[in-house]
Amino acid sequence: MRKPVIAGNWKMHMTCARSRDFMASFLPLINGTPNDRHIVIAPPFTAISTISEAIQGSRLELSSQNVHWEDEGAFTAEVSPLMLLEHQVKYAIVGHSEPRKYFSESDEQINKRARSAQLHDLIPIVCVGETDEQRERGEAERVIRRQVEQGLEGIEPSRLVVAYEPIWAIGTGKTCEAEEANRICGLIRGWVGFKDLIIQYGGSVKPSNIDEIMNMEEIDGVLVGGASLEPESFARIANFNSF
Ligand code: PGA
Repeated sequence: MRKPVIAGNWKMHMTCARSRDFMASFLPLINGTPNDRHIVIAPPFTAISTISEAIQGSRLELSSQNVHWEDEGAFTAEVSPLMLLEHQVKYAIVGHSEPRKYFSESDEQINKRARSAQLHDLIPIVCVGETDEQRERGEAERVIRRQVEQGLEGIEPSRLVVAYEPIWAIGTGKTCEAEEANRICGLIRGWVGFKDLIIQYGGSVKPSNIDEIMNMEEIDGVLVGGASLEPESFARIANFNSF
């Protein structure tokens, strides 16, 4: 049984003060949410401690937006898995298309981050996905397969989430057709060769399309950017197919 993971990625949004306000509004809205799904928030590092306190006793779980492969050292601007564990962080997003694009993150680095996460009992959320041009050139499947094979080398699939995020659908309002997202997620499951692998879809997920996406056979959750910044809209997404 694959338990869906609904995760909000706040990216570089939200101060500590705004995070507290968000939680005051959001937590009551997921009080009655069925237990058949995980609900996760990935705040910026500066708000992790604030949120960790605010969600004590609730079912909301914490993710980081990155993690380094060393426990400590001269790695300016990076964060170690040990620092995350101190704040009850359970997941770590790695390989998001933004660090891939802006900081030239390679599949090899992403793999090291994912391994480090698993070594410390964090669940890596490994993002993969093609650009617009790659899709138009008919290269989408080849690109995603390479990201999956290199990024997940040596990774234990039972303690892993893969997020399929077509880059052209991120923050653009253009959602990938649910059927097509479902097809790609099915391919990823086959390449990894583990039938219980949790695979999310990400890219312009919103209250109006969440139910259709979650009704797809191969999709086990979503990674949500913009629509996770408002308590009502993220709660509607977390409450997919209920109430
Ligand atoms: P979006 O972002 O929901 O704003 O498209 C998704 C993501 O980057 O994870």
